[in-house]
Formats: sequence, C-alpha cells, structure tokens
Amino acid sequence: MKIEAVPVPRLLPSRLEDALCAVIDVLRATTTIITALANGAREVRPCTTVTEARRGASSGDGAPFLLGGERKGLRIPGFHLGNSPIEYLDPDMISGRAIYFTTTNGTPALRRAYKGSGRPVYLAALVNLSAVSAAVARAAVKNALKRIFLICAGRQGEPALEDLYCAGLMVQSLQSEFARAGIPAEMSDAAISAAECARINQKNPLDVLTGSEHGRYLLGIGFAADLEFASQMDKYDIVPCYDGNRIII
Ligand code: MLT
Repeated sequence: MKIEAVPVPRLLPSRLEDALCAVIDVLRATTTIITALANGAREVRPCTTVTEARRGASSGDGAPFLLGGERKGLRIPGFHLGNSPIEYLDPDMISGRAIYFTTTNGTPALRRAYKGSGRPVYLAALVNLSAVSAAVARAAVKNALKRIFLICAGRQGEPALEDLYCAGLMVQSLQSEFARAGIPAEMSDAAISAAECARINQKNPLDVLTGSEHGRYLLGIGFAADLEFASQMDKYDIVPCYDGNRIII
C-alpha cells in the first residue's frame, strides 16, 4: 500500500486508478461538514459556486434545506449559515436538513477528488481523526486498492500547515493500522514530511492552528473559537463520505 500526502489539490494526478482519497480541510470546511452531520444534518451537497448552491437548493425535492458556506471566511450574503463549525451545533436548526454548501478551497477539493477516483471520498479533520483513519485503512484493504491519497485542501492554491499536520497524523495512524494487519506500507516524500510535521507538533494542535497563515487570518476576523473547536482531536466518531452527489455518514 502506498500512502501519499497531496499538499494542494492541483498536485493530484488527474487519473487515480486503484486509489482511495480522503480530503482534509481542518480550517474549516471538513471540520464544519463533519460537525453538521454529527448534529443530524440529512446530507451535505458540496457546491463549487454560490450560484450552484442556490440552484441546487431551489431545485430540491421540497425537503427542508439550508444554504451554508463562505467567501473570504465570511458568510455569503443571503445564506443561512457561514463556515463556522459552531454554527452547526444546534440540532434544532440542523437536524433533518440538506445543506447546500460552498467554500473557497474545501468543496472544490472534494469535487476534484471524486472526479479523479470515481470512488467515495472520505472527509477528514482533527475532530474525526481516529475514526476516519481506521475507516480509510479498512476500505483500502477491502477493495484491494494500492494507493491512498490524503488530499489537503490548502489555501489559495498553496499548502496550509493545519492540513499537512492532519495529513501527517493520518499517515501515522495508517502506518499503525497496516503494521497491525501485516500489510507493507510505503510512503511518498510528502507523506514522510507531513508525518514529521505531525511528530514535532504531536501534542499541540491548537498551536499549529493559531500559528498557521489561515489560522491567523481567521483570528483576525473574529473566529478564535473556531480554531479551538477545530483543534479538538477525535471529538466525533463519524466518517462522512462523498459519493459524487452528496455527503452522508
Ligand atoms: C475553505 O474551503 O477555503 C475554507 O474552509 C475557508 C474557511 O472558511 O475557513
């Protein structure tokens, strides 16, 4: 099994045969989607544009929906919710709803990963780290796949420290899973670098988030609580997957 970390989605090969993909956007898209589903959202529809989200919502089957997402970190005008995981904690608001969701880097990364692999794409963040790592290892073995791509959503086309850190923690977990199962695992150079970043910062997720470029940006626009929330390791035991249409647990 080869474990690869992809620092930014544009480095993902266009064809991903025999591969399983997980997308990581710790600040904040995957953290927020995982939180929404943990609090009862029926499904999340990842959209690349604001227009697509609005169209999707209005052509729905009449089932209750919400529009969520951000541009420049802030709620999109006319949308019910932004991209702060804390906004998705209230089951009275979230439960049973489809959420049409668009963000700058996270939702395009999900779409790209599905387009390349044609297989369910796993959603990863610090808040579901152990659950998603175990599920990815299991699915790769069960489907006799040869490669695992941990795709970091990044920021404006550049790598984001918090995503590489999370990818590195996943590399560590996957290595342990495969060692336990007696399956030889090989790592790409980017996966080795990400694992080293994780090892150095193992016990300090919040420091990683507050020290990163996007973390500092979010602090500057008033989202300090989101960084604390997103730094909670294994808060949730759920594994959302994107099937090319919708994200469900
Ligand atoms: C993104 O997809 O770019 C984000 O999750 C940005 C954010 O709202 O923090």
